[in-house]
Amino acid sequence: MSDRETWATRPGFILAAIGSAVGLGNLWQFPFKTATNGGAAFVAFYLVAVVLIGFPAMLAEFVIGRRTHVNAVDAFERLGHRQWRAVGALAVVTGFWILSYYNVVGGWVLRYILGSARGAYFADPGGYFGAVSAGPEAVLAQALFLALVVGIVALGIEDGIEKATKLMVPSIVVLMVGLAAWVATLPGAGAGYEFFLSPDLGTMVDNAGSIIPFAVGQAFFTLSLGMAIMVTYSSYVGGEDNLITDGGAIVVTNTLVGVLAGLVVFPILLTIGADITSDTTGAGALFVATAAGFGSVPFGRLFGVVFFGVVLIAALSSAISLLEVTVAYANDNYDIPRTVLAPAVGVGLFLLGLPSAWDTAWLTWFDSFAYQVFLPLSVLATAVFVGWVIGEDAVAELREGAGGIGAAGGVWLWTVRVLVVAAVLLTLGLGINEMFL
Ligand code: PHE
Ligand code: NA
Repeated sequence: MSDRETWATRPGFILAAIGSAVGLGNLWQFPFKTATNGGAAFVAFYLVAVVLIGFPAMLAEFVIGRRTHVNAVDAFERLGHRQWRAVGALAVVTGFWILSYYNVVGGWVLRYILGSARGAYFADPGGYFGAVSAGPEAVLAQALFLALVVGIVALGIEDGIEKATKLMVPSIVVLMVGLAAWVATLPGAGAGYEFFLSPDLGTMVDNAGSIIPFAVGQAFFTLSLGMAIMVTYSSYVGGEDNLITDGGAIVVTNTLVGVLAGLVVFPILLTIGADITSDTTGAGALFVATAAGFGSVPFGRLFGVVFFGVVLIAALSSAISLLEVTVAYANDNYDIPRTVLAPAVGVGLFLLGLPSAWDTAWLTWFDSFAYQVFLPLSVLATAVFVGWVIGEDAVAELREGAGGIGAAGGVWLWTVRVLVVAAVLLTLGLGINEMFL
């Protein structure tokens, strides 16, 4: 095993984890899933899922990583039996699967930055999206985005990931606040806030069966859970860190950026009178509808560049965390340098992403499969492992660096054992039912 790096600073870890969490899930999926799942009713379910299920599940991943200081696959073996490697492997595969199409959307974002600067999509937003989101152009853009990701990861933890995310995360927050202030001046702002923030209780009750799996799946995706990311990032953390406050800072910031995204997107959509529920279904509709907005407001080019620039930064800092998972595994087990591993894994990702780049129908399928099968399975296995296999040792690890947490340790353990497991089983059942039955 080669000498392992660590984060240079504690904020370095927190910012990198926030960089992973804040991504396309917040800026792209969260607004469009909100739009198609009953507006604020979805937001309410999502917030509950993040606090009650996502946060405890995140702490479970931190405990595994920090206790072992090793990549996710070996970490499960060290804390359990050899067979538990399979759970780490499932998480790595889940991450690889998700990153394959995440890169494709990252490529679209690159195109939209250029498109905004030139006003290229103003005349025909739908046609522009069709042209850049599928076929050879999408493949080329996917390759460019991947090259950026590979470059950062090849530089390593301290010089690559930590330095990059220290710059990226604050920029995302500052620019989003600026955009939110700008859209507040648009005529549709009030209607946008209302759509986003006032829950429709009828919709909530009627559609709970389909909203719940999405909300729980979104909570996992948005917090980068079930993909071995948080296990890997916390494996570079020292014993003096308080995992609970670190996790809290990550969850709160991630949620704030999601809410900010809604506060930016919905005023734009309601200003141009987009038919929210139908214009926003499907993988690309948010690009089309939001882009149409930039085409018809003052300074649209400038704001388009800034908006898609923020989306690009957020997508990059998430993608590097996923690539790091695989690179960490290979780097721990074989004496191959990162500078070779990162591009090699990049080629594999490129190939798996080809169907999604070629046709958005594939991308939608890859995404549904990740949400409804891979993510819940992986989080379920991790929760069972931490709750029932490691058990009290996990609580001891959580206490490390956290000072006197009293009964909170036990409450957390039982939440993981029962609540997280039950919520995931329910989601998995409803999701499989929706996808296959
Ligand atoms: N948390 C990320 C997001 O919300 C999800 C993600 C992270 C996806 C890393 C891929 C890679 O966008
Ligand atoms: Na997120």
